[in-house]
Amino acid sequence: MKRHLEVAKAAAVKAGTILRECISVSREVSYKGEINLVTEMDRISERIVVATILEAFPDHGILAEEEAQIENGSGFLWIIDPLDGTTNYAHGYPSFSVSIGLEHSGDVIVGVVYDPMRNELFSAARGQGAHLNGNPIAVSRNDVLIRSLLATGFPYDRAVSRENNLDYFNALIMAAQEIRRSGSASLDLCAVAAGRLDGYWELKLHPWDVAAGSLIVQEAGGTVSDFAGTLFSIRDKELVASNGRIQGLMIDILNAVRRKA
Ligand code: IPD
Ligand code: CA
Ligand code: CA
Repeated sequence: MKRHLEVAKAAAVKAGTILRECISVSREVSYKGEINLVTEMDRISERIVVATILEAFPDHGILAEEEAQIENGSGFLWIIDPLDGTTNYAHGYPSFSVSIGLEHSGDVIVGVVYDPMRNELFSAARGQGAHLNGNPIAVSRNDVLIRSLLATGFPYDRAVSRENNLDYFNALIMAAQEIRRSGSASLDLCAVAAGRLDGYWELKLHPWDVAAGSLIVQEAGGTVSDFAGTLFSIRDKELVASNGRIQGLMIDILNAVRRKA
């Protein structure tokens, strides 16, 4: 796993550095939906990550958000969000990351998230703990919801779908100390892993948003589940991540809202 982790780190730093260098360059934006945009930097970053990985592991599979999908039965699948936080990036708002996870026979075994603006490289290998710039990280120890700092996000289809997270948000904003919305799901997960946030939840995420970050939370001692509190899969459409101590408290509120809907 050591080589996989090293290649993932190198790919994330290489792509993230280009993203940082180009953040103030005016860029072309196209739209996947009314508010779901993509820049040419999403694609450039993806090409850098994919080329770096395939140079080291030419027979591995790829699932990347923008263009690359290679299924080849190798048992290894690299799951890549080349720019997580693209709306922020397009506005020059400095909160975004490169996220790379490696799935082997159904389990994520390596996860790397790079925040180029802070030069923070989060990483984890299954069973070997989570690290930030090489130093071990751990989740917070807070077990009181009203003293908890949470984060969430809202799906791109929020104007046309009732499952838009607003009801869950309304309930949790009253129960928690505060809620943040960073605009990068993988940075939210890493903030839970580093003990900067106590919990995070979101709906309608994709495997590339959560593959790396969910492993980093687990390896930092945290818990990741669906809203029912059962085992999490990166292909689930809902996620709750926390320090473990407030997981049940968050789930109780999410489920009370769901029952009322
Ligand atoms: C988005 C970000 C955001 C989350 C959205 C994601 P993108 O990813 O992670 O924080 O709320 O659901 O789609 O589109 O910037 O890669
Ligand atoms: Ca994303
Ligand atoms: Ca993206």
